[in-house]
Amino acid sequence: MAAASGIWILGLVFLVSSMASLPRCFCAFTPADRYLIDCGSPTSTAIGSRTFVADLFFSSTLTTPTNILANTTRSPGAASFASELYQTARIFTGPSSYSFPIKAQGRHFIRLYFFPFVYSSYDLTAATFTVSTQDLVLLHNFRSNSSAMKEFLVNTARDTLILSFAPSGTSSLAFVNAIEVVSAPDNLIADNAQTVRMQSYRGLSAQAFETIYHLNVGGQDVLPEGDLLWRTWDADLRILMDATSSKTSNSSDRLNYLPIGATEESAPEIVYATARELVLTNTSNAKINMTWKLNVDASFSYLLRFHFCDIVSLAANQLYFNVSVGNWHILTNFDLSSILYRKLAAPYFVDFVIEASDMPDELSISITPSGFQVAHNGILNGLEILKMNFSVGSVMVVPLPSSSGSKKSIGIVVGSVIGFIAILVVSITLFMVLRRRKLCSKQSVESLMTFSTNDLSFERATDRNSIETASLSETNRQFSYRFPFVVLEEATKNFDNSLMIGFGGFGKVYKGVLRDNMKIAVKRGNSVYKQGLKEFRNEIELLSQLRHRHLVCLIGFCDEKNEMILVYEYMENGTLKKHLYGLGLPPLTWKQRLEICIGAAKGLHYLHTSSSRAIIHRDVKSANILLDENLLAKVSDFGLSKTGPDLDHTHVTTAVKGSFGYLDPEYFRRQKLTEKSDVYSFGVVLLEVLCARPVINPTLPNEQVNLAEWGMKWLKKGELGQIVDLRIAGTIRPASLTKFGATIEHCLQDYGADRPTMADVLWNLEYALKLQESEASLAKTNSEIRIAELSPMVQSINPTGDVSSQESNGPVTNDYTDASIDKAFSQLMNSEAR
Ligand SMILES: *[C@@H]1O[C@H](CO)[C@@H](O)[C@H](O)[C@H]1NC(C)=O
Ligand SMILES: *[C@@H]1O[C@H](CO)[C@@H](O)[C@H](O)[C@H]1NC(C)=O
Ligand SMILES: *[C@@H]1O[C@H](CO)[C@@H](O)[C@H](O)[C@H]1NC(C)=O
Ligand SMILES: *[C@@H]1O[C@H](CO)[C@@H](O)[C@H](O)[C@H]1NC(C)=O
Ligand SMILES: *[C@@H]1O[C@H](CO)[C@@H](O)[C@H](O)[C@H]1NC(C)=O
Ligand SMILES: *[C@@H]1O[C@H](CO)[C@@H](O)[C@H](O)[C@H]1NC(C)=O
Ligand SMILES: *[C@@H]1O[C@H](CO)[C@@H](O)[C@H](O)[C@H]1NC(C)=O
Repeated sequence: MAAASGIWILGLVFLVSSMASLPRCFCAFTPADRYLIDCGSPTSTAIGSRTFVADLFFSSTLTTPTNILANTTRSPGAASFASELYQTARIFTGPSSYSFPIKAQGRHFIRLYFFPFVYSSYDLTAATFTVSTQDLVLLHNFRSNSSAMKEFLVNTARDTLILSFAPSGTSSLAFVNAIEVVSAPDNLIADNAQTVRMQSYRGLSAQAFETIYHLNVGGQDVLPEGDLLWRTWDADLRILMDATSSKTSNSSDRLNYLPIGATEESAPEIVYATARELVLTNTSNAKINMTWKLNVDASFSYLLRFHFCDIVSLAANQLYFNVSVGNWHILTNFDLSSILYRKLAAPYFVDFVIEASDMPDELSISITPSGFQVAHNGILNGLEILKMNFSVGSVMVVPLPSSSGSKKSIGIVVGSVIGFIAILVVSITLFMVLRRRKLCSKQSVESLMTFSTNDLSFERATDRNSIETASLSETNRQFSYRFPFVVLEEATKNFDNSLMIGFGGFGKVYKGVLRDNMKIAVKRGNSVYKQGLKEFRNEIELLSQLRHRHLVCLIGFCDEKNEMILVYEYMENGTLKKHLYGLGLPPLTWKQRLEICIGAAKGLHYLHTSSSRAIIHRDVKSANILLDENLLAKVSDFGLSKTGPDLDHTHVTTAVKGSFGYLDPEYFRRQKLTEKSDVYSFGVVLLEVLCARPVINPTLPNEQVNLAEWGMKWLKKGELGQIVDLRIAGTIRPASLTKFGATIEHCLQDYGADRPTMADVLWNLEYALKLQESEASLAKTNSEIRIAELSPMVQSINPTGDVSSQESNGPVTNDYTDASIDKAFSQLMNSEAR
């Protein structure tokens, strides 16, 4: 007992010290890609702490017909920050492009600096041109008569970003004074927001934005040096309608950053520390308000971001107000303190989308008093207006060849929207095209197979198509946040048993809801297990480095008061296991099952390949594959994961862990752990998906107890169809089933070396899906007959309370029982070893 607690304390010290060195991803963002170019300048230029490199050094990435470096002594005007940048420019007499290798796909700021001047025979004030990337037109027939900086936030899934400049018409010119291409945090903008009609708007992750305003309301201009992401923020006075109804406030106190709401990157601290407050006069029934009139093009949609931070109240619940956009009342009786745990000076922001169809002729934003008599009647700290869909209706410039050596430019083809769509289609690989084409012939599927047997091309195909960067996940905005214990206590109603959604070796899992209505899954470590601490650390460290669309996202953790709590995104649909043979749920269709398997395979493939040392999950099972509201599969539970062998060793020797029924026999025999152990377990999951029965069912006759053995028996006979889930047996195309069966058989090989890699498995599953889809239209009418063909086999589906429902308030159930068995089991192995 004493020894055990000794270990516990030691472990805690270790934990706490290792916490200090956790990746500080929630404090400082370091851009993976950072290109700063001073165009047309023979020398580099330092602007504050940043250096814009002379584009001579980028000449290998530049494709342009002429080499014209222009300069001027004219000043770009008082308003311009970094006037040095504006005094040189590169002039393009024909289509030209810069290509930037992209290290980290995802969101990037593109900032373009323009200042037209006359240089020898070139008059830049007359230049009209189009700037585009491979995917979007940033500026169409752009012409500027004064200095300007244009900022765009784009999401790129490419390895190389090509920025093209094309003069409009043969006699025109294009030019640029400086360029920034810099990574931005992917979670800067979540995927969804409300519309001004109070409907949900999704798809912001893939959206590109053009900055119209970043406003520091009630404050001064903020230069890029003052922003972690180098944005420029302007004072709001110029667009404020009537300055007499408001006053400015500022605070020099520390801001209270909370796990919900804004981070240091959302806006500079000074934006939150200054505000404009609505002042009521004693004629308080007058319709007094603060209104900003925005000068925007009404034919586009916009994302509106309101930044709030209550620096004016002295106590909670003393500030209530309404906010309207045009005639839309978007916030009424809004009380920040009730959302923010009664904390004052806590930065927060709210996003709204106003769609083009809802745009009034003149967009204005107003803050008006609420229906309550309180000390303060309205504030606003910051406002951002970002234009969406700005490339719609523009022409597309065909991207120029990248730095392939040729300095010759090829002509441009100007099309209309059709051209734009064509580019999109081209950029979508063969792989996806086939997927969409329901009637694709067998032959083309065959040719696809030879095309992508090469792992590399295959991987690129998946990446480019499915926006696989997990970073796009909308829930990771507080990535790896250290939660105060009280916040989690409140979110889970003090860890109420009715909110428990599962338990495992590590402890109990609860559903929680944060004050901003974000749902979370809270896994609370149980200090009884001495192993827990190691797994806790393991999981935080691993998950902090991993982000993928098909891995469950770790939002944060809490280590206060000796707690070991992990906070994950909440997965609406619970475990795959529950959907396969849980009570009261409709059976998943074959297509859904295949898509889930493909998703999980992608997650595992990422684990195995994303870093130089593969990460082995070690506990792949249907209870560790979770489904979100759209049945998108995500792999969870990395508590047991191990970093794989490095180059010198081919495997890791380790005590056997994992779950009965899924355990790789080779690992069991020799304690030899490789990625192929996961492949074996995944093969068992595939069988489970096909048969919809537990992998171990002791109530069945002996030969059927273990699903892996039972399945292999039928596979070897070539009669896998005999044990397929009867509820969907008739809907599976034979070719698809054959491919799926072959994949299982391959995964379940006795020796790891004989098993496929996850990439192979993934490819085969995609193929099985294709076979299912391509034949579907031919055979709808035959499906009845096929049910009869597959003669029913002993197939008692026995849920034995082995099910858990993430929603249920009923008896607590145990999706994680296998995990506890495995704890006992690994304990056994350990004592035997001694
Ligand atoms: C502009 O460029 C010309 C030719 O390269 C050079 O001689 C001149 O010094 C430059 N002027 C300025 C102000 O940089
Ligand atoms: C630039 O053009 C706009 C409209 O085309 C005009 O209103 C503005 O005065 C011009 N600015 C300068 C500095 O010429
Ligand atoms: C605007 O952007 C959204 C989100 O990406 C997209 O779904 C929609 O199709 C776009 N609208 C047009 C007209 O392109
Ligand atoms: C803060 O407010 C004080 C008094 O109202 C003012 O003198 C000061 O300039 C303000 N500071 C900022 C940064 O706005
Ligand atoms: C408003 O209050 C001020 C003093 O606080 C008073 O002088 C003024 O007459 C009041 N105005 C009205 C319209 O009641
Ligand atoms: C704001 O006040 C102005 C004049 O005080 C009034 O014309 C306008 O209708 C008010 N706007 C709102 C949204 O209440
Ligand atoms: C603010 O909204 C509340 C609730 O809709 C309403 O009762 C109140 O009149 C509104 N205030 C103003 C000034 O419109």
